[in-house]
Amino acid sequence: MADKITIEKGSVQETLIIPLYGRKLCAEVFPKLYTDESAARICAQLDYDFSDLDSQAGSTFWRFGALEAAMRQLDMQWEINDYLSTHPNAAVVNMGCGLDQTGRACDNGTCLIYNVDMPDIIAARKELSPVGDRERNIASDLNDSLWMEEVDGSGGAVFFAAGVFHYFTEAQVRVLVNELAARFPGSRLVFDSVGKLGRYLMRSTFKNFGMENYDECLCVEDPAELNAWCPGATVSTRGYMLGYYPMDDPAVTGFHRFLAKICDSVVKMRIVRFDL
Ligand SMILES: C[S@@+](CC[C@H](N)C(=O)[O-])C[C@H]1O[C@@H](n2cnc3c(N)ncnc32)[C@H](O)[C@@H]1O
Repeated sequence: MADKITIEKGSVQETLIIPLYGRKLCAEVFPKLYTDESAARICAQLDYDFSDLDSQAGSTFWRFGALEAAMRQLDMQWEINDYLSTHPNAAVVNMGCGLDQTGRACDNGTCLIYNVDMPDIIAARKELSPVGDRERNIASDLNDSLWMEEVDGSGGAVFFAAGVFHYFTEAQVRVLVNELAARFPGSRLVFDSVGKLGRYLMRSTFKNFGMENYDECLCVEDPAELNAWCPGATVSTRGYMLGYYPMDDPAVTGFHRFLAKICDSVVKMRIVRFDL
């Protein structure tokens, strides 16, 4: 590849940098907990100034941020692998994929892998990692449901959105859930959410990406609210940091563990699962 890939600054697409860098850092600092073969390689191929992030990488809080990025991906992988155990030929659909390779990390040799994001991000993906035989990139706004027509859900489908629905309104996510339920009965949708405090803490991030009305962005204060979203669906939630794995790595400190408990309980960081 001759030129490095540029990610447009100040766009919602730029939000992919933090989780990508977080996964790279987590694989370096907490290798017993998390491995990631692609994050470091992809960071090196981007024309992006990582110096600010590099200078903070040793701090407790940034390391905790890296843990957040990695735990979310591990949680998603848990749900995908669980679905694939009963639907081995399913479509594994990464909604708002950024430069993440979770689909490949869960590849069982028979599933179909789809990556959906805005056209410029899909163009970057094409340069960085050519798709395999059972993999397809879809350039689309997720809110334009035409993209769903490109997904072959004949063997079942598991959809996941990591760090994406924070930038959507509740109404937009509800429409998506119901569209998926209508088109892919028996499928599963997994995404992460925060409560009101979490959304407030993210306000500067929203503003950086031009979203002044952050109070319109999705937040889930009480998971019971979700039961009314989609008739017939079964909803369950688990803690984002500690709901799936005990964060077992000697480099995870007592303070990290304390912060993880606060994130799950007070900030209400959750992994939401809809069985549709
Ligand atoms: C915080 S990044 C997360 C990227 C990836 N899921 C990860 O974990 O690394 C959010 C991603 O959602 C994408 N995104 C946001 N709004 C979108 C929309 N309406 N349609 C498609 N993609 C969208 C952005 O381009 C970006 O890649």
